[in-house]
Amino acid sequence: MQTSMRVSAKAPVGVSRRSMVVCNVAEITRPAVTNGAKARTGVPPGTPVVSPQDLPSRPRRNRRSETFRSAIRECIVSPANFILPIFVHEESSNNVPIPSMPGIFRLAYGKNVIDYVAEARSYGVNQVVIFPKTPDHLKTPTAEEAFNKNGLSQRTIRLLKDNFPDLEVYTDVALDPYNSDGHDGIVSDAGVILNDETIEYLCRQAVSQAEAGADVVSPSDMMDGRVGALRRALDREGFTNVSIMSYTAKYASAYYGPFRDALASAPKAGQAHRKIPPNKKTYQMDPANFREAVREAKADEAEGADIMMVKPGMPYLDVVRLLRDTSPLPVAVYHVSGEYAMLKAAAERGWLNEKDAVLEAMTCFRRAGADLILTYYGIDAAKWLAAEK
Ligand code: PBG
Repeated sequence: MQTSMRVSAKAPVGVSRRSMVVCNVAEITRPAVTNGAKARTGVPPGTPVVSPQDLPSRPRRNRRSETFRSAIRECIVSPANFILPIFVHEESSNNVPIPSMPGIFRLAYGKNVIDYVAEARSYGVNQVVIFPKTPDHLKTPTAEEAFNKNGLSQRTIRLLKDNFPDLEVYTDVALDPYNSDGHDGIVSDAGVILNDETIEYLCRQAVSQAEAGADVVSPSDMMDGRVGALRRALDREGFTNVSIMSYTAKYASAYYGPFRDALASAPKAGQAHRKIPPNKKTYQMDPANFREAVREAKADEAEGADIMMVKPGMPYLDVVRLLRDTSPLPVAVYHVSGEYAMLKAAAERGWLNEKDAVLEAMTCFRRAGADLILTYYGIDAAKWLAAEK
């Protein structure tokens, strides 16, 4: 029975039934407390004595025990959902710490990369995405190093597939790590990021990655039409089984800062005769836009994407949910470098419980509709999940 139905008195003229209910509750409570009713045990002195509310629905019943909570939990996070980004370099045989990403290193090509991936696999993380740090002398305005058959990225793919044939190896398809201008596409002298010319090189890059053994190529450049072009290029070369994970809704975000530190890949300063745009706003999406993600999703689906991604993660959960509800394709979310840096910085100061905050973030990605989560916390989160079992 509803509380309001117990109100027997007729509401006086001008008094709504609702305000009558409020009065009624106060009347029940007040005499009980001031009566000096016998002190009850098991509650602090001063706890009011009240008659139970007549509530047919008490959602708290379903939260009363961990057994019950876990029985009815709506989504589960597993290491199977994680894709671990790895930074690779070969400037020395040591791992190099990334100052703005404590705990994350540029791994030295070779044994160090293998050891890191072996550790991830031991906790059930069996998917990685490779980001190479290209030495400055190999960077050019047209980024040909991107499709060097023996480039660091291509060799790392081979190294990993040789050691772990069942590892799912994802790659990044974009020119920025190889481009002396620091953009994802080729920059004209007037400062325009060229779309169709860039796509020609992205196709060569993706094919070279597929030849090296990549399982999934991931265009992160936000050029128009690149998913369809990559699909045709891969198929033409016989790589019909290589998947495309498209960065469908990638926003021009401030949260990529630490990543650009890691690869020294931020847009470079312009020169008198060559304008270099200082940001990526003419190709990455405006953080203010939601509907535009639908347009990108429709295009990617029609062009043959296998997985759609939203990036960054936590500030863009509405977009994750949008893609989940708009398309039947699996949805990935990128918990980016700046999000990692924020959590680490607060955890280092003791301002957040790192494990709880990270696992909550992962759960929220799943709740928003993400199947796959790219996260630098991949190994730690998988360890924490294993310890909870
Ligand atoms: C490059 C690329 C970027 C990231 C992934 N691929 C940087 C950028 O777009 O500037 C960011 C990842 C991160 O911040 O963790 N196309």
